[in-house]
Amino acid sequence: MENKKLFNAMGSEVADGFTCKPKNFDANKPIMHLKTQLFICDDERCGKAHKDENIAATLREVLKELNLSKGKNRIKIVRTGCFGACRFRSVANIYENTKINGNINNNGIWLKNIHKYDKDKWKRLFISLKENRTIDDIDEFEQVPMSDPSFYK
Ligand code: FES
Repeated sequence: MENKKLFNAMGSEVADGFTCKPKNFDANKPIMHLKTQLFICDDERCGKAHKDENIAATLREVLKELNLSKGKNRIKIVRTGCFGACRFRSVANIYENTKINGNINNNGIWLKNIHKYDKDKWKRLFISLKENRTIDDIDEFEQVPMSDPSFYK
């Protein structure tokens, strides 16, 4: 019996035994478009603060519900190691794809206490990012303060 061919989100045929690894390597194929990327700290201290052991997977499901897991407003979730900002745990960093359609005002923002977010708050954040609302203008998304380099002269 022949195996049914699988294709990943980029339209590439998937290698046997995998869910998204392309069967044929193409070094020149672009990566999948994203408008916003959210780096979620998943290291020891931030990871322990979350009640959800797999917060990244949960958030990817929320993005699917909102239809933001693909297309021009795609938001990608990436887990990272320690940012050195543990006292503000849990923390996440927003990266906007300003080369294409990201909002430069939201690029480089650090969110704190994200372990306290419930599903509705995550949805409000994702929708705000999709709509390119400026996060600085929204009080409910507390940010990690960033020091001025002149302080260290
Ligand atoms: S463990 Fe998350 S910033 Fe250190």
